[in-house]
Formats: sequence, C-alpha cells, structure tokens
Amino acid sequence: MPAVTPDEENLTRLCMIGCGGLATSRIWPCFPRLPVRLVGVCDLDEAKARRNARRHGGEAVYADFEKMLDETKPDGVVVCVGPQGHYALGKRILEKGYPLYTEKPPAPTAAQAWELAEAARKSNVLCMTAFKYRHAPALVKAKEILESTEFGGLQALNILRTAGGIQHLDKPGQQYHFLLDFCIHPIDEALFLGGPVQSVYAVGRGTDSFAVTLVYASGAVGGLTMSARGTFKRPIDRVEILGNPGHAIEIQDQIFMSYHVEDQPKYEHHPRFCTAGGDSLKETGFLTEVEAFVQHLRGQRPLEAVASRIDESVQSMALYEAIRKSVETGQPVRPEVFAHEPAVAGAAR
Ligand SMILES: NC(=O)c1ccc[n+]([C@@H]2O[C@H](COP(=O)([O-])OP(=O)(O)OC[C@H]3O[C@@H](n4cnc5c(N)ncnc54)[C@H](O)[C@@H]3O)[C@@H](O)[C@H]2O)c1
Repeated sequence: MPAVTPDEENLTRLCMIGCGGLATSRIWPCFPRLPVRLVGVCDLDEAKARRNARRHGGEAVYADFEKMLDETKPDGVVVCVGPQGHYALGKRILEKGYPLYTEKPPAPTAAQAWELAEAARKSNVLCMTAFKYRHAPALVKAKEILESTEFGGLQALNILRTAGGIQHLDKPGQQYHFLLDFCIHPIDEALFLGGPVQSVYAVGRGTDSFAVTLVYASGAVGGLTMSARGTFKRPIDRVEILGNPGHAIEIQDQIFMSYHVEDQPKYEHHPRFCTAGGDSLKETGFLTEVEAFVQHLRGQRPLEAVASRIDESVQSMALYEAIRKSVETGQPVRPEVFAHEPAVAGAAR
C-alpha cells in the first residue's frame, strides 16, 4: 500500500492530467468531495490547465507530465486524455512507481492494456480504469442479487444501449471508434454482470449498430445490442437479467434497479434526486470510482477490493476485440485470455 504523504489536513496529494470535456464535467467536480489536494495539473493545452486549476484549486500547472511528477511526487495520478495517452503516459507513470487511474478505454488495444497491467504488477501499484458501471450502486446491488443462492445463478442477460452524434464513420482507421469509445462501457458491463465470456458471435450494420450473442463460461447466454443511431437527449440504457424461473432483475439508465420474483417486488433501488440527498455523480459511478482510488491511496481499501482494476479492464478490451473480429469474419470468436506469468504470480497485491 503506498504511504500517505504527511499533510497538515492529511489530504492525499493527486496529480491530474487532462482538462478536456469529460474530465472537467465529471472528474474535476469529484475532487472537492474527497480528501485530496491537486498538487499538479497538466494539459498539453496549458490554458485549459490554468483554467481548471484556477476554478478548482490546482496548485501548480504543467504542460509536461514528467516534469510535474518529478517536481510534485504525488500519491497518485489521474489521467483523462484518450486511449493512446492513457497507454503511453500510463506506462511511464506506472514505471515511475505511481498508482494510476485512467479514464476508459485504458489503451487502444488489449495487448497494450496488458502492458499496463504488467507495468502495474512490476511496480506493485494499483492501476484502475474508470469503468463506471462497476462502481454504480444499482449495478453493484444487482450483481450481489444475481450471485445470491435465491436467484439461482445467471441464465440470461440482455443489454441494450444507444448513443447519438457519431462523426467518425468515414475517417480511415476510425471505423470502430464507436465500438471502442462508447460500447466499451456495455461490453465491460456484460463481463461485470455475467463473468468470463467463452464465445462471441457479432454482426454489425455498418460500424454504428451491433448485435452480439454471448456465451458465458458459466453456460449462461447473453445479448448485447448497441447503436449509435440514438440520441444523447434520450439515450436508451436497459439491462434484463434472468435466473431461477420467475426471478428477474431489471436495470434502467444504470441508476434504477428492481428485482421481482413472479410479480412480487423483492428489492428496489430507486434514488430520488429531488431531495438534497440525491446525488447523480454517485449513482452514475463517477464519484464512487474516483473515491475508490483515493481510498486505496489512503490505505483504506486493499487493491483486491478496488473494482475495475486493469487486469479486469484487459478482459473487456479482449471482448471488444473479439466482437470486432467476429463482425469482420462472420465467425464466432473466443476472446483472448490474458494471464500473468506464473513466475511472478503472487508478487503484486
Ligand atoms: N466515462 C465516460 O462516461 C466518458 C464519457 C466521455 C469521454 N470519456 C473518455 O474520456 C477521455 C477524454 O475524452 P474527452 O471527451 O474529455 O476528450 P477531450 O479531447 O475533450 O480532452 C482531452 C484533453 O487531454 C489533453 N491531452 C491530450 N494528450 C495529452 C498529453 N499527452 N498530456 C497532457 N494533456 C493531454 C488535451 O489537450 C485535452 O484537453 C476519453 O478516453 C473518452 O473515452 C469517458
């Protein structure tokens, strides 16, 4: 566990790399809610870094992340710059021995995500990916129910998600941008809820709508329908989970969850946002995932208890690549499995 740096208020010292759209709207608002100080703020566009530091309390501004790390020596680093940067910067950060949190996707490919996993293991530090579904209270509770004896094991799992506003279709090399950038969330969700996948068969209508059939290692079956032909003004995000006869869990918008046996409600997660207690950053998993990182840095959460660690994210990347390969070949595909060499097994926590 990394040592907590002494500080007059016992605050954890973070560096933040990335001051763009998602970071500014969803990650930065988490910091005042957590026991952290931002000792360094970095963006290639230094004006953005200065803006965010001024608005949200960053102590020093940089365009060069290596210089920032060398000068500030933080307890941990948060990176939100895009998959290539998560990989390239992430690898350096881990090699320097700093715990790392990146936005998704963790890298452009599963093999590169695996390099991050290996680097984290070598440095014996946490590397986690912001796969927010694994941190959303409704999903965490749904998983607990589906693993209960009463539910009787997963039979079938269906996920439907839509996005809007695609601009990538004609850009060479970016045909699968939607699948990687957006669909990686429901792909990760399928693994989180259903466990390891044994076989994938996928078809695409162009590269902006996909229908995927999944066979889980448990024998359960699943479907994943993802389309960019929706709209973010009214996205569709629905999950249905079946277990014992008559047992069903339904999740809506990643926030609302119900468990029914026949027509009888057994459990409901239905947060109310109209009261002061309502907290959408928490319910969507944005706050809870950054909080998990900070708790680990403060010695309050062991590595095994942090969701969306890089070893799990690698499998989500492998499932993304299997879907892509199945679309391209028209054949069922077995996702690649990544495992650490036995020689170093047990070296990392
Ligand atoms: N979890 C979610 O729901 C969600 C939603 C949207 C985006 N994202 C992810 O967030 C990431 C960022 O997306 P965005 O829309 O905010 O992008 P963006 O382009 O708005 O922001 C990226 C920022 O990173 C900076 N940057 C790039 N390379 C850098 C480097 N080497 N050093 C320092 N700064 C660098 C850029 O200057 C820019 O300010 C992507 O990986 C995206 O997939 C996640």
